[in-house]
Amino acid sequence: MAQRTIIAPSILASDFARLGEEVAAIEAAGADWVHVDVMDGHFVPNITIGPDVVKALRPHAKIPFDCHLMISPADPYLEAFVNAGADYVSVHPEAGPHLNRTLKQIRKLGAKAGVVFNPSTDPSVIQWMMDEVDLILVMSINPGFGGQTFMHSQLRKIEALRKMIDAEGRDIPLEVDGGVTPETAPLCIAAGATALVAGTAVFRGGAERYAANIAALRG
Ligand code: DX5
Ligand code: ZN
Repeated sequence: MAQRTIIAPSILASDFARLGEEVAAIEAAGADWVHVDVMDGHFVPNITIGPDVVKALRPHAKIPFDCHLMISPADPYLEAFVNAGADYVSVHPEAGPHLNRTLKQIRKLGAKAGVVFNPSTDPSVIQWMMDEVDLILVMSINPGFGGQTFMHSQLRKIEALRKMIDAEGRDIPLEVDGGVTPETAPLCIAAGATALVAGTAVFRGGAERYAANIAALRG
């Protein structure tokens, strides 16, 4: 039987003036994870959330916090995010010189270690270290902003990473981030994705729509 798709709403698209309520609302609406987009205005051209905000939000939900670090360097901040309550900490290989060391450090701190693929990043980056990865995140947009259009070119990459995961026999989430809507979600799932990030598609319409918006992504 097919696994139930993990839905991870990106709070980037939520009301920042009411973040605690928004996190509680998506949990009540059936979200599986809270996706937190951390941007530094250097690795990507936008600035968002730091570890203190993650710490403040943590008591507002019980579901895992999926922290997507779009910062460079990432290593000096790993401990702060894990201490703040991050369950998954994901990094881009381009954010530092030693991806393997960074992933080991995340695990050592007690969190699950994720690798994020920019649209131009090749799956081979993790070929020789699959057993050190707890989550694979494929960007279907260029990172930095919500509300962008899904890049269909990334579906082939999702398929390639699905094959790599299956070849290892490890049951790790394969997550897709960017432009995920009720139209593009089935394409991601057909390509082998098991987790979907969605900002715009979850938060549109206000809190009374969140449950229906999340259900629509599960198909
Ligand atoms: C962009 C972020 C995404 C973004 C997704 O850099 O990683 O998580 O918020 O937003 P939507 O779903 O609106 O494309
Ligand atoms: Zn993200």
